[in-house]
Amino acid sequence: MVTINENYLKLKAGYLFPEIARRVNAFVEAHPAASVIRLGIGDVTEPLPQACREAMVKAVEEMGDRATFQGYGPEQGHGWLREKISVQDFRARGCDIDASEIFISDGSKCDCGNILDIFGSNNTIAVTDPVYPVYVDTNVMAGHTGPADASGKYGGLVYLPISAENDFTAKIPTEKVDLIYLCFPNNPTGAVASREALQAWVDYARANDSLILFDAAYEAFITDPSIPHSIYELEGARDCAIEFRSFSKMRVYGYPLRIYGRAQEPAG
Ligand SMILES: Cc1ncc(COP(=O)(O)O)c(C=O)c1O
Repeated sequence: MVTINENYLKLKAGYLFPEIARRVNAFVEAHPAASVIRLGIGDVTEPLPQACREAMVKAVEEMGDRATFQGYGPEQGHGWLREKISVQDFRARGCDIDASEIFISDGSKCDCGNILDIFGSNNTIAVTDPVYPVYVDTNVMAGHTGPADASGKYGGLVYLPISAENDFTAKIPTEKVDLIYLCFPNNPTGAVASREALQAWVDYARANDSLILFDAAYEAFITDPSIPHSIYELEGARDCAIEFRSFSKMRVYGYPLRIYGRAQEPAG
């Protein structure tokens, strides 16, 4: 008999987001003049920039011509792209990250779920509260949590509160945790982490044999030069952190939209 993954039945997001939409709609109806800042599921707001459109059209044309057709790409991502990322995003900031350590995927949201395949099921997992729901839901689906309580918090997770009281920076846990999700600049609060705050996390992780899953999806929005863009800018982070990046959150109007143009060589 076919069985299903009962962990999916623990998920709350299926109720949460329709409920947010219902309440927002009711409010807007009752207060038509109000300007509402929506904090539910977001969406992109701008059309694709010209450079991206041109690069995509060019790539499709290449794949349609026998002389330039390349078949499947390399499973870790094209060498020329990994090299550009290593140089422009990491080495330019003093991070010793080689192209061979970079994996190109179909997006950091998928990575947040897929990475769990390599971890065991008995890790203590810390997330901030509030948090980008994908970190929590993927662990729920993988069976790493208990059911949710009435407030929507899942058993087995360590929730680290973030609020105006702690300047939207979670306090380092007093207990030992194995996996720690950090997201800076943060979704949903927008807070950034100072070099000192991040170094404290790295030091904690190294002292406790923990692993930091660092989501830098919004790093392109950092404007203060003193704020690290990558956790690998911190001493010792190579030993205790995996960083996720995204191609879907780059600033379009003005610096920095990076275009990872390809040099002549097609292979990689
Ligand atoms: C914090 C955070 N990480 C990752 C993602 C997903 O990024 P991607 O578009 O690369 O899957 C999002 C939102 O889309 C996000 O808010």
